[in-house]
Amino acid sequence: MIEVENLVKRFGNLTALKGISFKVKRGETFAFLGPNGAGKTTTIHILTTLLKPTSGRAVVAGYDVVKEEKEVRKMIGIVFQDPSLDRDLTAYENMLIHAGVYGIKNPRIDEMLKPVELWDIRNKVVRFFSGGMQRRLEIARALLHEPEVLFLDEPTLGLDP
Ligand SMILES: Nc1ncnc2c1ncn2[C@@H]1O[C@H](COP(=O)(O)OP(=O)(O)O)[C@@H](O)[C@H]1O
Ligand SMILES: [Mg+2]
Repeated sequence: MIEVENLVKRFGNLTALKGISFKVKRGETFAFLGPNGAGKTTTIHILTTLLKPTSGRAVVAGYDVVKEEKEVRKMIGIVFQDPSLDRDLTAYENMLIHAGVYGIKNPRIDEMLKPVELWDIRNKVVRFFSGGMQRRLEIARALLHEPEVLFLDEPTLGLDP
């Protein structure tokens, strides 16, 4: 499902990724750990097509992240390290916008919000949500278009065990 080969990323004279390689099979949960600045976010940005590698190769769900970025984007969901919700909109509206961006005609917003216990407060503006509630909404949103691969950057941030 994911194949990374000798991925290198340089920012000026700083080498953030020094040639990493790994493979993840379909159905597998794969976690990579490392101290601050280890290059975890940089790796996720390359695999989600937001950043170009300096060298090396990565394939996600059968598509090359550099040559086939549009196809890759259709296959993936992402929860960013930093919050990316629209805080002036309700939980439900945040989900609706995401459905619109992905062209989902009948989004199953209830199915996504119920398991993360946000359905009852779906019409509340996100700015009044706690950090954990916002995080749960981001996860529900990332799953709405049923991605083949889900990327979570610092997935436990703000969540109860
Ligand atoms: N856009 C950028 N420009 C310059 N340096 C960057 C940029 N993004 C990340 N870095 C540097 O790359 C290294 C890896 O950062 P990052 O991938 O965010 O690490 P992690 O997510 O593991 O904490 C750090 O030294 C960071 O300062
Ligand atoms: Mg990071």
